Amino acid sequence: MTKPQLLIDTDPGVDDALAILMAHAHADVLGLSIAAGNVGLAHTTRNARRLVDLVGAATPVFAGCPNPLVRLPEEDAAFVHGHDGLGDVGFPEPNTAVADEHAALAILRLTRERPGEITLVALAPLTNLALALRLDPSLPQRVKRLVVMGGAVTGRGNTSRVPAEFNVGFDPEAAHVVFEGFPDFDLVDWELTLRHAFDEDEFDQWLAAGDHRAKFFGRVFRVARQTNRERGRRGIIAADALAMAVAIDPSVVKHSEHRRVGVELDGRLTRGATVVDWSGRLGRRSQVSVVMELDQAKFAAMVQRALGALQAA
Ligand code: BDR
Ligand code: CA
Repeated sequence: MTKPQLLIDTDPGVDDALAILMAHAHADVLGLSIAAGNVGLAHTTRNARRLVDLVGAATPVFAGCPNPLVRLPEEDAAFVHGHDGLGDVGFPEPNTAVADEHAALAILRLTRERPGEITLVALAPLTNLALALRLDPSLPQRVKRLVVMGGAVTGRGNTSRVPAEFNVGFDPEAAHVVFEGFPDFDLVDWELTLRHAFDEDEFDQWLAAGDHRAKFFGRVFRVARQTNRERGRRGIIAADALAMAVAIDPSVVKHSEHRRVGVELDGRLTRGATVVDWSGRLGRRSQVSVVMELDQAKFAAMVQRALGALQAA
């Protein structure tokens, strides 16, 4: 299998970190475009640079938008990811520099340079991608695939607005632009993530068996793990890693439903909800493959390899 070429829009973030390790273990990574989300843009950009140092790659890091398109965010996710977004470990200043190009412009340039070759992987609020799309609506025609981590397809979100998932809820207008502008994409939602958590003991064995990447992840993951436990979430939940598995190897998907999905922008209780037209009542063309089930063993093997706990076959 030839390696997929990935351009990753991300807000690292602990689960983003695992996804970025996976990408570098399994794919060609053309760049990391950075969004604000889990924590502020200065932190997410620095964390991305830190990850590039860790894997020893020359992956460019493009800083993007510091705020959502329209409204300022109501909440971030520092309580899960740590105030610095990577578990408040206190890493030194990374060596990797920030590229001198805005994330949205880098997305446009790279997809022009390699039309039809790049898989875009969106692991963050969709601000950068929406901006790129508004600058150049022909962007989807140049992209091989788009995989989005976002939404809660039956309304069980993970933010204080009940049905909203974090990435879509942080910047609903951006999500709306992307959901209306891309004619076809894969959606890995929060509820799928909960169905595909790893067993904690098994995951600890991978961390113990792995290399420097496992050691790093074990350190940055502590705060998130504790927060998840306190919230009664069982197992190791890795939303962005799950989306990355779909981006790296589409055959990991066992079952998906092709549906029209919209984003609620106005609801008093529901702003940021992803509304799925499950029974085709709107009469609008379906544009989203909602991933419903994944091959857990394949997903596990990809994560193990990214941690250095499993050698390539
Ligand atoms: C998503 O929100 C962020 O906190 C995670 O990094 C992930 O991208 C899960 O809802
Ligand atoms: Ca993320």
